[in-house]
Parts: sequence; structure tokens; C-alpha cells
Amino acid sequence: MIIQVLRQPLADIQSPWLVLLLPEEQGELAVEVRDTALGGLLSRLIVQKEITGSVGELTVVHGPAGFAAGSVLIVGLGPTSKFDAGTAHAAGFALAKRLAGKPRESVALALPDAVDRSVAGWISALVAGVVAGTRGPGLRKTEPNRHPFETLNIIVGPGATEDPAHQIEEQVRRGEIVGQAINLARDLANTPPSEKCPSRLAEQIRTVASDAGIAVQVWDETRIRQERFGGLLGVAAGSENPPSFVILNYHRGGETPSFALVGKGVTFDSGGLSLKPSASMEDMKSDMTGAAIVVATMQAIARLSMPINVTGYLALTENMTGGKAMKLGDVLTMRNGKTVEVLNTDAEGRLILADALSFAAENRPARILDLATLTGACMVALGPKVAGLFSNDEDFSQSLLAACRLTGERAWRLPLDDDYKELLKSNVADLKNVGGKWGGAITAAKFLEQFVDGKSWIHLDIAGPSWNESDNATRDVGGTGCFVRTLVTLLESLTL
Ligand code: BES
Ligand code: MN
Ligand code: ZN
Repeated sequence: MIIQVLRQPLADIQSPWLVLLLPEEQGELAVEVRDTALGGLLSRLIVQKEITGSVGELTVVHGPAGFAAGSVLIVGLGPTSKFDAGTAHAAGFALAKRLAGKPRESVALALPDAVDRSVAGWISALVAGVVAGTRGPGLRKTEPNRHPFETLNIIVGPGATEDPAHQIEEQVRRGEIVGQAINLARDLANTPPSEKCPSRLAEQIRTVASDAGIAVQVWDETRIRQERFGGLLGVAAGSENPPSFVILNYHRGGETPSFALVGKGVTFDSGGLSLKPSASMEDMKSDMTGAAIVVATMQAIARLSMPINVTGYLALTENMTGGKAMKLGDVLTMRNGKTVEVLNTDAEGRLILADALSFAAENRPARILDLATLTGACMVALGPKVAGLFSNDEDFSQSLLAACRLTGERAWRLPLDDDYKELLKSNVADLKNVGGKWGGAITAAKFLEQFVDGKSWIHLDIAGPSWNESDNATRDVGGTGCFVRTLVTLLESLTL
């Protein structure tokens, strides 16, 4: 999809489709539309409440009087008072999903003038939404049912004259890169599990990363054993397919402190011998979303040439039930020397993350952030749309929450008090891998904390937001590519 910025009167746009964005209250029409025949029609429809402007609402007018465009698509933006990068993304997604059902040569998208132009990153989020909305979950359909537009023309109206042209172009470029990164994360999550066994996923990641100019190291099982990653080896033991550990290095920040991103990469979670019921296993190909987000975020920051240092650590494995699978009561010796009694093989994420976190901490980063589809309990606590945030560092938490406020993605801080640690006491080893019935998201985080060596650290439990069980106008089923926008925003804020 070629994306370009045009300055042209809306009525003259020759495109088969012209998309207009409409905020909710008073149904404010773009200045250039207001006094036209189309404007009259839309005003009537607004008065009749046929059009409300709610987020993602779609209205089609074919053959709009006074406009050169073949058809007009009006997309709701929601109330102006709530307008943020999140609603811009949702509107972009909705319009693209609506129009991408068949191949289209060109689509024109007019930037609205009735929004608060000081809202940070809204143009980027809108474009990222469009890029994401042209891509669906139907990766293996013999007939593709989503088609990126050949050309997307972003039309800058008269209300935008105060925005310097280069700023809009820069935002559009950023949005395109971030949208592509979101799609990378979604595609990886949506890929069938047998097509992304750890070694294959590692090779796919190697290609993506080296194309973006990121240094890649892939460790095979032998190396993982030499490095004493007992947690990763324990989980991988039940699988025919060996584990991989991937290290991504992006160093363009000179002497500035480095940032570590750690991702859970379970390419299929059957639960192991503590087998999941079939319904709970259906979507467990997406249990590598943490790793996918790390790769996607690093691809975006590299393509944006951000002046920072980021290292990604990805622990990739299947969690299966083969004859050599770890058993309940087995004790694993982890990378940092701690011993862990395995009392539930379905609590595998924390075992592989423990090694990855210890190794990341050894390299002395200023901050560590891990992303993991870690617990169903986090979804019980916060629902399917909000990530659990756990941290030993107040400032770091606040900067991530600030980035969330800018992007509209949602995370909520949960406690990490020391009494939860008691729940992980084992009779035979240093700790056990499950904490009992209550507070499962917290005990999981408390487990991870013991492997970060006191470094400044955030754990994001993304079990909920990583995956959509159902779709609507503004989203698809399947992998979401959540937190790519927020992490890019967070890492950008570090360079200010
Ligand atoms: N991958 C799952 C968590 C998960 C559940 C992610 C649902 C997305 C949707 C994780 O490995 C797991 O199985 N966690 C267990 C932990 C329990 C055994 C302590 C869980 O949540 O049930
Ligand atoms: Mn599990
Ligand atoms: Zn899992």
C-alpha cells in the first residue's frame, strides 16, 4: 500500500472512495462539506439520528452530489471530548476493514478538522489503524478476503494549515511503520502452531530482524543447555520440537542506558501433563504473543531509526505432553541457580521467563519490561481488554501508564506485596511454580520478580488484550498486536 499526503479541495478528489471522519456531538461536518449538497444530506441524516458519529459507525453515500469521488464513507469518531489516539486507531481500522473486502486502486482519507489537533500521535494512530484494518486473520484462506489498497491518499483540508507539512508526513510515515509492526505481531499470533515451531519461528524472526538492521543471535537446544536455562529446557522436554532462545540487539543510542524487552514465546500451550481442556486450548497458538510484540516493537523502532539501545530476549518453546515431559514434583534448576518445584506444568510461562529475565538482568540494562500471556487469572481480575501491570519501580510504572494514556491502550497496576511470596513456598525446593487458588496473576508476577535481580522491571500480563474472541466494526478476531503502539511511544519518550 502506497501512502501519500495530498493537499487538494475535497470536492475535487477523483478517487472512487472518499472517507470522511465525523465526531459525535453536533455532528460537526468538515468545513469543506458543510455548505455542499452532500453536507445538506448529511445534516438531515444527523438530525434524524440516522448518523450519530459514534466510534466506528459507518455510513455510505454513493454518487455524492457536488463531489468528484465515486462514493463517500462516513466514519464515526466518537465524542470530541474523548478523542485520542485510541479512537483514531479504531476509526482507521473500521474504515479499512469496511473497504478492504475487495481490491481497490485508491482510497482517499480526509483528515478531520473538528478534532483537537494537539492530541499527540492521532494521525499516526489513524494511519496505523488503516494499515491494520486492511489485514485480516484469514491467513490461510485460499481466496484472500482482505486487500490492502494500492494507494491511500491522506487529504489535508484547509483546517490543517497550521500543521507544518513535514510533521503530517512524518506522522503518516510513523503510522505506516507502526501499523506494519502491529500486523507482524498479529500474523505471528494468527499463524497455525505447527507452522511456527520454535526453530521455525526463530528463523522467521531472524529474517524480520535482519531486514530491519537488528543484530540477531539464535541459540539452539545445545547452547540453551550450556547456558543452564533449566526452566526453558524443562518446559521444552515434553516436545518433539526443540526450544530456541533469540537475542535481538538494536544499538543506536550511543552511551545511553539500555532497555531490555523480554517476551514469552510458547508457540503452543497444551498445558503439558496438567493438560488443558480442549476449549481452553483452542487459541493457545497465541501464547507466543509476548515474543511477537517484542519483535514487532523492535522492527518499528529500527525502521524509525530511534536513537536508543534496546535488547530483546525471546524464550521460544512448545508446552507438550511427550514421553519426556516434565512431571509434577520435578525440580528444575534455573539459570540463576534457584530451584523450582513444578506442581502444575500449565504454569510454564513463568518457568521460561525466569531464565530469560535472569539472563537479561545479567547484562545490566537500566530497565526490563516483559510481556507475557501469563495467566487466565489476570483476565478474571481485569477482563479481556486490560493488561495487568506489575512493577518494582514507581517511576517506570508511571512512564508506561503515561504512554498508555497517549495511545488509549489499557493497563492497570496490581500489587506485588511481599506476603504473596509466601504462597510460592515449596517443601523441597526454593520455590514452587504455582501459588494456589487466589490472586493467580499476582503470584505469577511474584514468581518472576525473583529472577530480575532487583533491576527496575515491569511485567505486563497480556493474556486478555492479546486476543479477540469476537470481532466488530473496529476490530478483528484473533491476534491484536496490542501494546506495539504503546511500547513505541514509551521508547520514544525515553529519547526526549
Ligand atoms: N498461557 C496460559 C495463560 C492464558 C490463559 C493466556 C488464557 C491466555 C488465555 C498460561 O500458560 C497458563 O496456562 N496459566 C495458568 C496458570 C495456572 C496453572 C497457575 C492459568 O492461567 O490457568
Ligand atoms: Mn500454560
Ligand atoms: Zn502459557
